Amino acid sequence: MNILILGSGGREHAFAYKVVQSPHCERLYVAPGNGGTAAIATNVDISTTDFQAVKRLVIEKDIKMVIVGPEDPLVHGIYDFFKRDTYLAENVQIIAPSQEGAKLEGSKEFAKQFMQRHSIPTAKYNSFTKDRLEEGYRFLETLKPPYVLKADGLAAGKGVLILPSIDEARTALHDMLIEAKFGEASHKIVIEEFLDGIELSCFVLTDGKHYKILPTAKDYKRVGEGDTGLNTGGMGAISPVPFVDDLFMQKIEERIIKPTILGLQQEHIDYKGFIFIGLIKVGEDPFVIEYNVRMGDPETEVILPRIESDLVNIFKALEKQELDKMTLKITPKTAATVMLTSGGYPETYQKGFPITGLKDVNESLVFHAGTAIKDGKTVTTGGRVLAVTSLANDFHKALAQSYKNIEKIHFERQYFRRDIGFDL
Ligand code: AMP
Ligand code: GLY
Repeated sequence: MNILILGSGGREHAFAYKVVQSPHCERLYVAPGNGGTAAIATNVDISTTDFQAVKRLVIEKDIKMVIVGPEDPLVHGIYDFFKRDTYLAENVQIIAPSQEGAKLEGSKEFAKQFMQRHSIPTAKYNSFTKDRLEEGYRFLETLKPPYVLKADGLAAGKGVLILPSIDEARTALHDMLIEAKFGEASHKIVIEEFLDGIELSCFVLTDGKHYKILPTAKDYKRVGEGDTGLNTGGMGAISPVPFVDDLFMQKIEERIIKPTILGLQQEHIDYKGFIFIGLIKVGEDPFVIEYNVRMGDPETEVILPRIESDLVNIFKALEKQELDKMTLKITPKTAATVMLTSGGYPETYQKGFPITGLKDVNESLVFHAGTAIKDGKTVTTGGRVLAVTSLANDFHKALAQSYKNIEKIHFERQYFRRDIGFDL
């Protein structure tokens, strides 16, 4: 069958890499795609939130399966759009949660309330709109520093502030609510208790009834070494997370994954897609920091290379809610990825630099994140440019292999963290 992947990052290149290996895949399209997906699929230049354009493409190319990478189309209801359209509903399978399910990522307050309803461990919280500013100040008084303030809506990963003093927290709360610092996303603010621990992520694929646990991963979000500087989309990742043993995984499954899936069922939320659970390990216990309703980027670049099963075959089981009949084979090897970025990212950076040395890479996978092909050459087009992934028996060896190959890749003002995995 013909398959379409929506998105343009390293995550989507990793999906494309995996999907083209499936005997079920005839033609693969990626919209809008990047320089990496262009080499293995056909890129189509349409926006992931232009649902009418997606529909036209699906009909024109006789596409039978659509895999949605980023959160935007999910939060805007692409699943519901497909289900409401007679042709699409009958002919096309979409791997995505419904718009209601996507609220787990699209609204921090919705996610917190969901967790509360289903007794899923998470930080204590309260939420405030601008008419409750004074109450917000009083709630801050009941907490210990540092203070965690979150814009309710999608804010491209920038909507969370962690502030050391109550004065800064008060000012930030005021700016978010009154000055609409994050626009519409901050018309409501979740204030929560700070949890002190080590972060990791767990990924689940669900048909709404059954689930498969995908490999765990840990990403490195800060731009600077030693986890310093501004937050980015992610500068590197490792899978599996070495400190997750069987007992801890069992706690995650019993206390978090099972009640999440059961909660979706009890609330009649249609969900046939990925759940990305951001966790923090406090002492020996897992707490949920956030839900995302998609795969992570760059986590996907370390998770999918570890999956040995045919991903398309597994996706096919989602529609009939027969995921329980599938087996997911995962290599015990460790995967590590290092993100090559444009100097200046996540603030301003230049684009359009030619990339050399890609052909010299061996025994690593290079997933393109922000590249395009221009006059036959690969050039930079984004802040995050390439994710260099390697598999080995432990994460030290995997990282060493990625760093060795990175030496061969060049573009102007290239930057990467040399300390991925430093805290493990
Ligand atoms: P989020 O967008 O909710 O994942 O938050 C972004 C980052 O803020 C997380 O990856 C954590 O590092 C941090 N964070 C969010 N909530 C908390 C919390 N309650 N306690 C400690 N750190 C947090
Ligand atoms: N790497 C974090 C994310 O995809 O949200």
